[in-house]
Amino acid sequence: MANLLVLGTQWGDEGKGKIVDLLTPAFEVVARYQGGHNAGHTVWVRGRKIVLHLIPSGILHPGTLCVIGNGLVISPAAFFTETADLEAQGVDASPGRIAVSRGAHLIMPWHPLSERVSEDRRGEKKIGTTCRGIGPAYEDKAARLGVRAGDLADLSVLREKIADNVAAKDPVFRAFGLPALDAEAIFREYAGWAEKLGPYLRDVSELLDERMKRGDRVLFEGAQGALLDLDHGTYPFVTSSSSTAGGAATGLGVGPRTIHGVLGITKAYTTRVGCGPFPTELDNETGRTIGSRGDEFGATTGRARRCGWFDAVAVRYACRVNGVDRIALTKPDVLAGLGDIPVCTGYRYKGRPLKSFPAEPWILKDVVPEYRKLPGWPESLHRAAEPASLPKTFVDYVRVLEDLVETKVAIVSTGVERGETVFFESELRGLVDLAKVRAAASV
Ligand code: IMP
Repeated sequence: MANLLVLGTQWGDEGKGKIVDLLTPAFEVVARYQGGHNAGHTVWVRGRKIVLHLIPSGILHPGTLCVIGNGLVISPAAFFTETADLEAQGVDASPGRIAVSRGAHLIMPWHPLSERVSEDRRGEKKIGTTCRGIGPAYEDKAARLGVRAGDLADLSVLREKIADNVAAKDPVFRAFGLPALDAEAIFREYAGWAEKLGPYLRDVSELLDERMKRGDRVLFEGAQGALLDLDHGTYPFVTSSSSTAGGAATGLGVGPRTIHGVLGITKAYTTRVGCGPFPTELDNETGRTIGSRGDEFGATTGRARRCGWFDAVAVRYACRVNGVDRIALTKPDVLAGLGDIPVCTGYRYKGRPLKSFPAEPWILKDVVPEYRKLPGWPESLHRAAEPASLPKTFVDYVRVLEDLVETKVAIVSTGVERGETVFFESELRGLVDLAKVRAAASV
């Protein structure tokens, strides 16, 4: 049993929050490696809904260290809103529980402002971002202009970096009629954050190394999904970070061999928020039914998610790109009673079958999905506690998905609560210490 990477294999919103929270008792550390408060990880505990954006989904288990890696971009205001919400619900979100990398970049006031301008300028071609300033913060990181969390430790460095940024951005802001940036006011605001954020800041690479050397196990937590990855997703309709498995190493400063297994979180149908091609999209009543049954509204922006059938071509691609060992299948309960369930098994493009998933949106928008209809199951899945109590038609459906995506299913989530989960025990051997997960669930 060792370290496990948990990530989404579709366009995000696969239900990673529930699975990370559920598996956390088998790990001492949960470490996020990319993204920012564009993410929305929902966890339900005994009827109470908790939405996490920046803080790892292991925070609800006392004693687990939650790590925010250098691969993230952090809005200090969003971070402290989240810690305050958690504290108000009785969850310890103090520096003893959360470590933030000094190398993480900060979202600055100019980032959301410039993002709105750039989305408006794109017009019809907009990406449909969350407008949280995530993309522009990563742009500044690549442009070597970014302000890092560690810069808060020296106020003269912080002042100089803010002044350099304001000088660089001022002409652009003026050209687009945006309010002038006040370097001194921004400095004062961030100097205030410096005092509050200081106790959380750590050398995360070193911290993880120390923890792993003493035998602690780490759960690496991805945000968004593989198809939103900056390199391997449906560029340009992607987020600005590396949500795929490789991002865990660069986003935390750990070697690739510290990742011992990869669990892909896969929804039994497909959803997408924002713009970009979506071959199996159901822009009809069935899509809306799935959306309302599955409560498919963005946890961050409240936007209705686009819904469609399961796309085995896309998930097989995600399993390859990430080296997924096993799948946790989420939300099949939403499909119960819908009749036969079509599953996309292949694409045709200009009349010819495609061998694999084309990440280019100009191809993807014109592919014709080929479907196979699988018998649905009328029974609710909610009460199933073990594989033997799952309806046979549903198990047959799972077997077909496994064949199509060339990866075994190890977990089936049948509802939002921790207890609404079925484990295929033999498939988890070597990946997760199930006894620890079960012991915690029964408390
Ligand atoms: P950004 O991450 O705000 O730059 O948005 C880029 C694209 O990623 C948009 O299509 C967003 O809707 C999508 N996106 C970002 N975060 C999430 C998420 O947590 N779940 C699903 N989609 C997301």
